[in-house]
Amino acid sequence: MAKKRKILVLHGPNLNLLGKRQPEIYGRLTLEQINRRILALARELGVEVEIRQSNSEGELVDWIQQAPKKFAALVINAAAYTHSSVALRDALTAAGIPAIEVHLSNIYKREEFRKRSLIAEAVVGQITGFGVSSYLLGLRAAVEAL
Ligand code: DQA
Repeated sequence: MAKKRKILVLHGPNLNLLGKRQPEIYGRLTLEQINRRILALARELGVEVEIRQSNSEGELVDWIQQAPKKFAALVINAAAYTHSSVALRDALTAAGIPAIEVHLSNIYKREEFRKRSLIAEAVVGQITGFGVSSYLLGLRAAVEAL
């Protein structure tokens, strides 16, 4: 598929633990189940999606830097790095392709430190609080941005 129909979905730290990790906040779906839903929607929308997860900030930075070569847009749940990473923000700004920020939980209804997203100014927009649907809405937004 041509680069202009390819979208990269990135999951940040601890999202590999979904299903067992604070299910009252993040739900009971595992990362694999979430990924299957993303891939099903991608087929419906006629786009190709590649999905990666990393617990390492540097690896996420590398993937964002490389993204423009292969992808036209990206969807990112930067997880805890949302609130701390100037490096991810800078990488998103430098990449220059549309990025959509997503969160399973509503980061504005939780602890004070979660209310600040350092990446928010580097993305097209943010979808927060809709569980797995945050990713699906994020994918739709990324397709709109193509
Ligand atoms: C999260 C919210 C973050 O504050 C948290 O550190 C996460 C997940 C979410 O999807 O709700 O790991 O990004």
